[in-house]
Amino acid sequence: MKILQAQGLGKTYRRGGQVVEAVRQVDLAIAPGEILAFLGPNGAGKTTTIKMIAGLIRPDRGTVAIADQNPHRDPHALRQLGAVLEGNRNLYWRLTPLENLEYFGVLRGLSRTEARRSGRELLERFELSHKRDAAVQNLSRGMQQKVAIAVALVHHPKLLLLDEPTLGLDVEATQTVKGLVQEIAASGCAILLTTHQLDIAEALSDRVAIIRAGAVIAEQPTQELVRQFSGASYQIELEGNLEELLEAGVRSRLESQGIVMQGNRLFVRGAEALYEVLELLRPAPIFQVKKDAADLTEVFLKLVQES
Ligand SMILES: Nc1ncnc2c1ncn2[C@@H]1O[C@H](COP(=O)(O)OP(=O)(O)OP(=O)(O)O)[C@@H](O)[C@H]1O
Ligand SMILES: [Mg+2]
Repeated sequence: MKILQAQGLGKTYRRGGQVVEAVRQVDLAIAPGEILAFLGPNGAGKTTTIKMIAGLIRPDRGTVAIADQNPHRDPHALRQLGAVLEGNRNLYWRLTPLENLEYFGVLRGLSRTEARRSGRELLERFELSHKRDAAVQNLSRGMQQKVAIAVALVHHPKLLLLDEPTLGLDVEATQTVKGLVQEIAASGCAILLTTHQLDIAEALSDRVAIIRAGAVIAEQPTQELVRQFSGASYQIELEGNLEELLEAGVRSRLESQGIVMQGNRLFVRGAEALYEVLELLRPAPIFQVKKDAADLTEVFLKLVQES
């Protein structure tokens, strides 16, 4: 079962003779409890996609279903959805956190009493109870971000859209938001997360979708994507310099196999090649053999810069 199903989304902005194809081809699906990291360079079309999913702008092409309901036709779909957009514009700055929670809870279909109860619970869970009666504009940036997330959750949505939820937060607030995102997913909510902090995406997401110039160019389980890029390469380190340890004949054979040599290290692609190289190196003393582990940042840069 999928909570979000977006298919063939496309959106072109036309403004004063200028045409921008912001989103060309985007398919996304998220299951309950799953965190999908939606990554891409500036201007790739992430926010535009999120706004189409949230029912805020109408797609030119494609369909969105949230728990099988269309947010552009059926207002009930919006009750299944919570969103924190860029720059947390979803708050009233002069109202207190609790007033915001009540207001938005009622707007999304809760009774006043339900909205207040849910609001108080969230303030407690987000450790904001002591700021319940302060105006949002007087809270720190991290607290405002927590309130914004609480407001998005007040009506217990099945899908949460988070557009750069840790932007501008300090290390501690970032950790807090990360923890909250994990907790929210663990409670069964599906989460679509955009961020430029790839370490956060790697730590939080089950799957990654990478968008470039309006189109999704890769979509895979996070660990698989990282493994796929890191699995193929090994580093062999010898106890001493290659020039001294290896005969010229061996070195030229390694070179002809495309092995990169540097000081006391050799760089080998693929496990088959590794065994062959180790055989050639015998009996030179080996200090260590290690697999070059990639992280999401490397994978991302590679995919986004290719072609
Ligand atoms: N309201 C608008 N009118 C015209 N063009 C727009 C509008 N909103 C976005 N664009 C353009 O659409 C493209 C995609 O923008 P979008 O904000 O979706 O990117 P993004 O992936 O969220 O980028 P970032 O990582 O910088 O937030 C960009 O070229 C942007 O300039
Ligand atoms: Mg954006």
